Amino acid sequence: TGTKNCVRYFAELDVPAGYSLVATKYVVIHTSRDQGNEMCGLSELADLGADHIKASAKRSFDCILDESAAEWGRRIWSCRDVLIEGAPSADLDVLAYRFAIYHLTVMSPVHDNRMNIGAKGLSGPGYYGHAFWDTEIYMLPYFIFEAPEEARSLVEYRVNSLGACRRNAKKGGDRGARFCWESAWITDGEATPVWCDTGDLELHITADVALGAYYYYIASGDEEFMKNGGYELIFDSASFWASHMKMNDARGKYEINDVTGPNEFHTHVNNNAYTNYLAANNLEAALKYEKLLSERYPELRENLGGHIDVAFWQNALDKLYLPQPDENGIIAEHDGFFDLPEIVFDGEESVSKNPKAWERTEKHGGIEKVQYSKQADVAALLYQMEDKFSAEIKKKNFYFYERNCYHSSSLSLNTYSCLAADMGELDMAYDLFERAMMIDMSNEPASSSAGIHAASLGGVWQCVVLGFGGVRRVGDDLRIEPNLPSAWTKLAFEISWKGQRLKITESAGSFTVENITAGEKKPISFISGGKTYTVDEKIEVVK
Ligand code: IFM
Repeated sequence: TGTKNCVRYFAELDVPAGYSLVATKYVVIHTSRDQGNEMCGLSELADLGADHIKASAKRSFDCILDESAAEWGRRIWSCRDVLIEGAPSADLDVLAYRFAIYHLTVMSPVHDNRMNIGAKGLSGPGYYGHAFWDTEIYMLPYFIFEAPEEARSLVEYRVNSLGACRRNAKKGGDRGARFCWESAWITDGEATPVWCDTGDLELHITADVALGAYYYYIASGDEEFMKNGGYELIFDSASFWASHMKMNDARGKYEINDVTGPNEFHTHVNNNAYTNYLAANNLEAALKYEKLLSERYPELRENLGGHIDVAFWQNALDKLYLPQPDENGIIAEHDGFFDLPEIVFDGEESVSKNPKAWERTEKHGGIEKVQYSKQADVAALLYQMEDKFSAEIKKKNFYFYERNCYHSSSLSLNTYSCLAADMGELDMAYDLFERAMMIDMSNEPASSSAGIHAASLGGVWQCVVLGFGGVRRVGDDLRIEPNLPSAWTKLAFEISWKGQRLKITESAGSFTVENITAGEKKPISFISGGKTYTVDEKIEVVK
């Protein structure tokens, strides 16, 4: 029986003493958004559901469970699992990794490139199911390295939203495409609630999306994706930046003003370092891929002419202001950041470990009036653009910003952990990783009351494979620089790179890379310790 918005079933049964009653509930969901069902009305959808249920109900729960387990084994556990050996705590680390990839699997609509991953997955109402930069910066690397065909669906979603994002740019008086801070259906455009100004301010999303697209292309070598919208995405996002930046005559530079960077404590700022550097990278990518397109596919270059403006991009890139490290080696998160008081006490490890540190901001007029950050910001820049800064600059900025960071967004601890691993600060990297994994796995369920933290789970995977495992895309190259924490004696996992499947096994002092591609094997090059290696079948690198 049913009333509106409600399905109920009442039954009365006599169960003799000593017997138990097992009730199995079969649920199917059919919507007019499912591919192939677009033209269905309500009654047709109800019929589809009824047929599906009847067919499923002929099979027992155990049979369906076995089938599901076999599929999980085939698609996930046989190739995306991890092996970590070491101290007893390593068992919890494996559990955290599996917890993360379980959620990344169940919450990601990779079967349909008109959808993306909600910031809270499918486990809660937080953020209304909208997708953010969380996808490209935090989750996409998992899909790129573990399941490139699934990553493709996620980057295609952005290509499919280009129409709405071009309208978004035009609305703001800009050229090209401005990606939406919060995205829902591909034609919706900006989905950020009107009471929230992040939609107007967090411009960095446009560069994040472009980065995701060329990261995917470099790692997969998927020319078809580029030809079917990837080039356009990179070109149109570059045009957005070139038209949006404004000349500051006093500085003689273009600036990107009135933005919010990843650190959402500081809004309406000018020249957020993360935003400006990623915008520059977006422009560089457009210039690089225009050249490549001209050489390889002149006809397509011709057809895409309306999206290409090399002189416009080059001028913007040449004159864009990129904040440089000051005399202490620190990069200002945004203009005027160092004019704000630094209120961390001498000897204090990090404000994130001191719940009372918040109170100190009161006498300064609030959180936005001091040098605190909500989450990785300059740190996120150092992590994404690792080849742009020296090891010394990275270290200085890491310590400075980590001390001042509240990690009150779940998109923070994992970035700092990966950076710490890169720097060889392994105890700190491990501590940050363990705090990151507890965001959704601790005994405080309230932490996940609005839903699990999708980006954080992508970040947990990154801590293991990119942080401790030391796997990274640097420029156009793959690099492998293991950084195992002392609690781990062995780490093994698989990754995909340029259509090949590699098994990487790391232990103290050495690691092996084995090409385990099922089909035709091709040699793969990677960098480690500044040297280039090529693996045909299997190679051992001794550090
Ligand atoms: O995208 C994030 C943002 O960086 C911090 N607030 C929550 C958003 C969704 O997870």
